[in-house]
Amino acid sequence: MNDRYAPGPQVTEPPSLNGRWQRDPALRFGTKLLKTWFPLWGSMSPLRDGAENDSTLLVRIVARTKVAEDENVIALTLADANGGPLPMWRAGAHLDLLLPSGRMREYSLCGDPATSDYYRIAVRRIPNGGGGSTEVHDTLTIGDTVKIKGPRNAFPIALPGFGSTATHLRFIAGGIGITPILPMLASAERLGLNWSMMYTGRSLDSIPFRDELTQYGDKITIRTDDTHGLPTMAELTGGSPTTGPAPGTAIYTCGPVPMLEGLRTYLRDRPDIELHYERFSPPPVENGNDFTIRLTSTNDEITVAANESMLTALRRVNPAVPYSCQQGFCGTCKIRATAGTIDHRDMTLTDTERDQGYLLTCVSRATGQLTLDI
Ligand code: FES
Repeated sequence: MNDRYAPGPQVTEPPSLNGRWQRDPALRFGTKLLKTWFPLWGSMSPLRDGAENDSTLLVRIVARTKVAEDENVIALTLADANGGPLPMWRAGAHLDLLLPSGRMREYSLCGDPATSDYYRIAVRRIPNGGGGSTEVHDTLTIGDTVKIKGPRNAFPIALPGFGSTATHLRFIAGGIGITPILPMLASAERLGLNWSMMYTGRSLDSIPFRDELTQYGDKITIRTDDTHGLPTMAELTGGSPTTGPAPGTAIYTCGPVPMLEGLRTYLRDRPDIELHYERFSPPPVENGNDFTIRLTSTNDEITVAANESMLTALRRVNPAVPYSCQQGFCGTCKIRATAGTIDHRDMTLTDTERDQGYLLTCVSRATGQLTLDI
């Protein structure tokens, strides 16, 4: 939870789904106040609350394309089911996909923000995941309708000359982490900004959207683990092996947790570098402790280990328990506790919800034993 790494690189608010924890409380309060006084502020401000734009919309799948040679990543193009325009969005935004099974999953928008005709998302099949990606791959086809929520933006980009004092943009994508980065590249290119990118993956055939990226030529370096080994932090950031990235670089990155954690550590003492990141997987538990949860419906008692989330422990006995972001952002995993002491680790629930005993099982913890109304 205490994820802020100061002194360190400048991080915009919010830098990641997980980074909602890092949002400055004063900024959040100020934003809420402005939205109360000036309703238009909500649509103008990059400091959006996750709960905004929370109504559902029915969309139709109008295209389905394999975008990686290993055939494990598909892109879905979604249009309004009634033929209308879709809500506008900006690079870095994501939407919630409400699957027929009742699962909800978040996917970054990787199409063109300049059009309101369609959205595009991309989904990598994760065979041993929670079932959301396999459901998308195995059941959703062209012509199907599906509900979405959003878009919402937890990973906004501030472009040099348009809200950022940076002089160079460095994008770093790991595998399916390319999805929020794709529209950022388009924006940077359209505005003629100075940018470069490192794109990493296990192997060439696992890397999505390679064909689409050829338009950017040598601004993008593709590097795969099977051929080149793991990249160094200097290689990822495009900097000198001895002095690191040039001052004035703004880094936008999305990929596996070890890569993001490595970058954070590497840039810890570089306040002249902006680091903005988004995770696709849960952050590691920090300052964890063992505790137990008891389920009122079955009286089951489950131990939550110090290094795992309550959600992970719950899913061992009930794989169908709802969740989505796993980062304390979307609220899907909200459950009420009827007894015990909660260690809230989110910035999403309201005081009223907390007073009523609600908690987010993906990030929050407890001391001793917690009784859950499930
Ligand atoms: S799964 Fe999104 S807040 Fe817990």
